[in-house]
Amino acid sequence: VRTVSIIGIGAGDPDQVTVQAIKALGRAEVIFVIDKDAEDLVGLRREMIVRHAAASRTVVLADPPRDRAAADYRAAVEAWREQRADVWGAAIERELGDDGVGAFLVWGDPGLYDSTIAVIDRIRARVAFDHEVIPGISSPQALAARHRIPLNRVGGAVEITTGRLLDDGCGEDTVVMLDAACAFTGLAADGLDIYWGAYLGTADEILIAGPLGEVAEEIVRVRREARERKGWMMDTYLLRRSRAAE
Ligand SMILES: C[S@@+](CC[C@H](N)C(=O)[O-])C[C@H]1O[C@@H](n2cnc3c(N)ncnc32)[C@H](O)[C@@H]1O
Repeated sequence: VRTVSIIGIGAGDPDQVTVQAIKALGRAEVIFVIDKDAEDLVGLRREMIVRHAAASRTVVLADPPRDRAAADYRAAVEAWREQRADVWGAAIERELGDDGVGAFLVWGDPGLYDSTIAVIDRIRARVAFDHEVIPGISSPQALAARHRIPLNRVGGAVEITTGRLLDDGCGEDTVVMLDAACAFTGLAADGLDIYWGAYLGTADEILIAGPLGEVAEEIVRVRREARERKGWMMDTYLLRRSRAAE
């Protein structure tokens, strides 16, 4: 049977690739790499492949364009996943023999804001193959470790959300991902601390932490400058509301 591994490769630090991921990379004959705009990201992925899967063949898949201006966000994502399933499904059938093993590398962990599992499920409705998911270090985990904090406090909950959803406010401990618009600037800063991290685990990593009211402007400026310098930005942050009794 053909097998497809969905391998979480961590959020940027090549040393944060797990032993399980390295073994799975070693088993893969074909590594499917999605051709994304961010050259740096593709470069980091290649570095990991070379280090851990030297024996495999790399097949680059063109990523269908996504309609980011669509009025119906969910419908646009659905259409895009369907197109991805077409491209990837054809590649799996074309590139993998009857017992072939292929791998898709997923940034961070495949279980967090990533469509790879959903796309593979779609393909499995049409093409027969086994599949497995290998977890990876996610960006919230990398963020917490670099700031040397736990994500939750005693008995508390942690919400993981997106910048888009932050407009509705935040709870006690909230991790925000996918925020190109600095949604934290729209919050009432009173009683909130922010732990911000960009390019976590890479040589360009930037960390800023402090009371939101004091560091928000600095984060916006540093973020803009870094984005201009590198051409792309990847950042995550935790918002922590002070507890009355603490
Ligand atoms: C499409 S999501 C993928 C998340 C990924 N599956 C994970 O487990 O972290 C992309 C978002 O993850 C966050 N992210 C991923 N890698 C990061 C890194 N090295 N530093 C900071 N944020 C990162 C950013 O919020 C970015 O907008």
